[in-house]
Amino acid sequence: MRILFVGDVVGAVGRKMVGEHVRRIKAEQAIDLVIANGENAAHGKGLTYKIYNQLLDYGVDVITMGNHTFSKDVILNFIDDAEYLVRPMNLEPLEYGQYYKVVEVNGKKVCVCNIMCEVFMHNVSESPFACMEMILEDVEADIYFVDLHGEATSEKAAFANVFKNQVQVIVGTHTHVQTADERLIEQTAFISDVGMCGAYDSIIGRDVSEVLTRFLTSEKTRFTVAEGDGMFCAAVIEIDDNNHAVSIERIQIRPN
Ligand code: FE2
Repeated sequence: MRILFVGDVVGAVGRKMVGEHVRRIKAEQAIDLVIANGENAAHGKGLTYKIYNQLLDYGVDVITMGNHTFSKDVILNFIDDAEYLVRPMNLEPLEYGQYYKVVEVNGKKVCVCNIMCEVFMHNVSESPFACMEMILEDVEADIYFVDLHGEATSEKAAFANVFKNQVQVIVGTHTHVQTADERLIEQTAFISDVGMCGAYDSIIGRDVSEVLTRFLTSEKTRFTVAEGDGMFCAAVIEIDDNNHAVSIERIQIRPN
């Protein structure tokens, strides 16, 4: 089984990148399942129903989220009915949506789940380690895939070392910067951060001059999403018939 995971999709440029690349990569690399992080897909923060459907139309099978899950109130109108949307298990408020989705792929049950890290993150109700233990105990599946959403690479690597051989895929999101540490930890595929799909000439997807204003003066800014040519960051993970991860490869497409 081959899984394509697409890093944080940021705003209109990020969505355009998903539209341009996902179906092509799916065909070229014989991908069986596409998962994408959509927490920044609507104007850089949150998700709308229209954009949820747009990402599915572009070939994404399951959408994961992060700390911006509830940044747009409109998500409350559809999150409980969004069959292919997975929100972090330990992000407050806890009562909306689902924190895992089991999809059937090639006769295997794949549990896609979404968990927040704790270091430098807010509104996190419970340790990611405790969350993963609970999922492994409660959810029956052949393959477990985790989008681990957090800032600190050390926390994500620690998580991967705790759950190696129990969880097949652990991919980090949130920083928007792709790390070059993709590897197998025994039978588990791991990368600290997959990176983003968004404007290349930006600061993690946001307008450069506005972010500079924010850092260099005390002025409060809106963090406008950047425009221009896009980049596409993703990873392809292969899992063998014995449910062991056997490879993970990074994809990073930059403008010419
Ligand atoms: Fe995030």
